[in-house]
Amino acid sequence: METVVSGIRSTGRLHLGNYFGAIKNFVKMQKGNNCFFFIADYHSLTTHPQPEDLQRNVKQVLVEYLAAGIDPEVSTLYVQSDLPEVAELYLLLNMSAYVGELERSTSFKDKIREQKDNVNAGLLTYPVLMAADIIIHKADKVPVGKDQEQHLEMTRTFSNRFNRMYDIEFFPEPVAYNFGEALVKIPGLDGSGKMGKSEGENNAIYLSDTPEIITKKVMRAVTDAGPTEMNQQMPQEVENLFVIMKTVSSEDTVAHFESLYNNCKIRYGDFKKQLAEDIVKFTNPLREKIEELESDDAYLKKVTKMGAEKARESGRKTVNEVREIIGFGPR
Ligand code: TYM
Repeated sequence: METVVSGIRSTGRLHLGNYFGAIKNFVKMQKGNNCFFFIADYHSLTTHPQPEDLQRNVKQVLVEYLAAGIDPEVSTLYVQSDLPEVAELYLLLNMSAYVGELERSTSFKDKIREQKDNVNAGLLTYPVLMAADIIIHKADKVPVGKDQEQHLEMTRTFSNRFNRMYDIEFFPEPVAYNFGEALVKIPGLDGSGKMGKSEGENNAIYLSDTPEIITKKVMRAVTDAGPTEMNQQMPQEVENLFVIMKTVSSEDTVAHFESLYNNCKIRYGDFKKQLAEDIVKFTNPLREKIEELESDDAYLKKVTKMGAEKARESGRKTVNEVREIIGFGPR
């Protein structure tokens, strides 16, 4: 049995990128693996949320995990800060993570551009905390989207370095995983890069968006004036919408619109209408479950309590072993 670990930052509602990049695979991996899925609330502090928002966002992500089909009886589903041992492992790993390599990480470079007035040390050491999350359960596989690939590479670097430093085969080398396929990157609706929370409200479709909002966002998505030559290459913004269509629509539907595009007969209004309909069809059952779970505080509390206990059992064992290897001795 292999160990699977992955997490999602609690910075707001989940979008289609989170779903197809990560959570869909979490659900598929539950059977036959030892799975740990968590809500990364320590990580969310790099953007300085208000205490009320922090609580609300953790609950939101928990509800969406459950609505998507994570079974808390099968997987260990927990809140990152309920496993304080991860903070200790993070501290220990920081002693052998070098500032130079952390400064070179693409996500750090992006963040210093995005939040110039808040370049905190947590952003710099973000990949160290992420490595701690993963190796605290000695993960083999980490289901994530394409944007996390470099973080996984850094995790392997920190694991190997620890093993070499103490001359012991202790931490495995976890890999970013998508069933042998390339890691997924779901684009946003604004014609540029990936679907994400920091790219503006209208760039992302959230699992909890109503059909009206979804339709409005899709109909407003960026396109060009339309093809003028047969089989011409699609501009990025149109290709992006096709990528999204491939995740929610049938193969026939995709083929139909591709053929219209290639024959210069596509009408973007019809194309977007179909896309919006198929997204709504896909998200509707999820949204209904989200709404149902939101009011069940007793159940949510039970789930996080159970998750915290299971996660701590695993985390405490690893950290005790690490302390011993380093020379502190067990607690
Ligand atoms: P986060 O919260 O930004 O995203 C959660 C998961 O969703 C994936 N994802 C996407 N996949 C495809 N296309 C997109 N547009 C898209 N947007 C997001 C991400 O790749 C990720 O898998 N650092 C992590 C959270 C984290 C973590 C970990 C993950 C903390 N510790 C340990 C795995 C293991 C993050 O910020 O993901």
